[in-house]
Amino acid sequence: MRLILLGPPGAGKGTQAKRLEERFGIAQISTGDMLRAEVKSGSEIGLQAKAIMERGELVSDGIITAMLARRVQQPDCTRGFILDGFPRTVPQAEALDTMLREQAMDLDHVIELAVDDAALVERIAGRFTCARCGEGYHDRFKPTAKAGTCDACGSTDFVRRADDKAETVAARLDAYHRQTAPLLPFYRAQGKLKQVDGMAEMNEVTRQIGDILGSGGTA
Ligand code: AP5
Repeated sequence: MRLILLGPPGAGKGTQAKRLEERFGIAQISTGDMLRAEVKSGSEIGLQAKAIMERGELVSDGIITAMLARRVQQPDCTRGFILDGFPRTVPQAEALDTMLREQAMDLDHVIELAVDDAALVERIAGRFTCARCGEGYHDRFKPTAKAGTCDACGSTDFVRRADDKAETVAARLDAYHRQTAPLLPFYRAQGKLKQVDGMAEMNEVTRQIGDILGSGGTA
């Protein structure tokens, strides 16, 4: 199964992608996570991407599509993958179509997580992650069971993303509406776009996605 989760920053793409990865045993591919790993390693790509990400803008299509093309060749993608944060522009979507066609593959679903902009700032501002195992949390919507301790690994060390400041979130939302939202008509024209209510509670969003993967329902 190959699918795309589409939605603005904070819509819940990463949250749902991790659940799908566990449920279906297919790889979550987050271009944001890949770029953050490049920044952390101090690679050439990381050096180019760091300032762009901190401004809330998009990294160039050339860098991203080359990175993605290498990633989908990895053995853990053989059974399929969930694209989280890619594509983000029409040229990226066209490059993905070409990439898949060359390997006689197709996309099964493109799922839009529809969310009100007003909810996103709170979601993003409250987000934090375990520094050791990467488990994601939220101050209000998904707190740790025991204050200050990771439920998954017991670590007491947490991190917040550099681009989760309110002013950067505004720039990320602007980039979404200008550069990524045109993907909705792009995939609707291909008959692949489905929509779920990203404002619903997390388990309800998971249920709605499960319904789509098990049935139809074009938006
Ligand atoms: P990226 O890492 O992809 O960030 P993003 O798209 O801005 O998305 P987020 O990770 O912020 O949100 P999410 O939708 O995954 O939400 P989450 O599940 O965490 O990209 C970062 C940067 O990298 C970009 O700005 C760009 O510079 C660059 N980049 C990446 N890909 C690129 C590309 N293809 N091209 C060019 N540049 C690229 O949820 C958010 C919070 O809300 C969490 O705390 C969660 O617990 C909570 N939550 C989730 N669901 C719910 C719910 N239903 N109800 C209540 N709370 C919820």
